[in-house]
Amino acid sequence: MEYTRLSDANVITEKYMDSILIEERLIDSVVADISTEFLGERFDMPVMTPAFSHLKNYEGREHSGLVEYSMAAKECNILNFCGMMENDRFQDIIDTGAKTVRIVKPYADNAKVRDQMQYAESAGAFGIGMDIDHIFGEQGLDVVVGEKMAEQTSEMLRSYVELTKLPFVVKGVLSVSDAVKCADIGAKAIIVSHHHGRLPYAVPPMMILPKIKEALKGRGVQIIVDCGIATGADAFKALALGADACAVGRSMLPSLEKGGTEGTAEFLKKVGNELRYIMSFTGSANVRDIDPSVLHFTGF
Ligand SMILES: Cc1cc2nc3c(=O)[nH]c(=O)nc-3n(C[C@H](O)[C@H](O)[C@H](O)COP(=O)(O)O)c2cc1C
Repeated sequence: MEYTRLSDANVITEKYMDSILIEERLIDSVVADISTEFLGERFDMPVMTPAFSHLKNYEGREHSGLVEYSMAAKECNILNFCGMMENDRFQDIIDTGAKTVRIVKPYADNAKVRDQMQYAESAGAFGIGMDIDHIFGEQGLDVVVGEKMAEQTSEMLRSYVELTKLPFVVKGVLSVSDAVKCADIGAKAIIVSHHHGRLPYAVPPMMILPKIKEALKGRGVQIIVDCGIATGADAFKALALGADACAVGRSMLPSLEKGGTEGTAEFLKKVGNELRYIMSFTGSANVRDIDPSVLHFTGF
């Protein structure tokens, strides 16, 4: 028999999420309201788009996948994210009218980091951030599409917070230690994530989430979770475990590739409808009222 070891964090994360079951609380329950407030703004649901980059124009359509999903985020009135790109591409996303957080890479060229963040503010971004889980690569520091990355200190992160008036979001937090540092430097939100499994054996974001939530109590930092979120049930579990919101990821890609903006909006609304259904089934009248005791951990 072939002996294989389970090191893929995506597989581990899915397995963990699927091991959590949900009880029903129907009596006195109402149709749930899935609208939410995030960083002071009202959104139609606590489900967000992922910080993607490098998506092509699928099937030769007019707009890149990045612009198409941003238009879907605008249509669904949800918070939009984007990742690595140059300023002109970011402008295309802003032009869709979607409220967008720009996640800037930890480039070795620190002037580029600062330029992209300042550009985002002047273009009308909703927020800025950095994916700190792309600092290291297999050869030392990471090289992403030919661009070198650099180590990031607390002081560097603090300097980005001080650079603009926009809320700063740290993406790729997977420990209490980093979460507390994010609060200390003045981040307004974190994304608990292993960036689709960059680290072998990475702890599932939802597994570490309750500890992070506890550590950030009273610190004014909102929490988003991503990795493996594909359904309303996944979103529900993330919220019940303490997240303020969650982001879908590669689960969005088939709808985007095939159906563009319309297909993506349909997918996002489906996730929202499933979330409302499960909230209604569990006596969770609104996003703030989800009681973690409806979850049952079956062992993992
Ligand atoms: C095509 C693609 C491009 C991505 N680009 C970025 C990026 O530039 N910046 C970033 O922070 N995350 C990026 N991500 C990671 C996602 O934002 C997200 O963390 C991840 O996909 C979540 O895992 P999941 O796909 O398993 O749900 C990218 C993911 C994909 C699939």
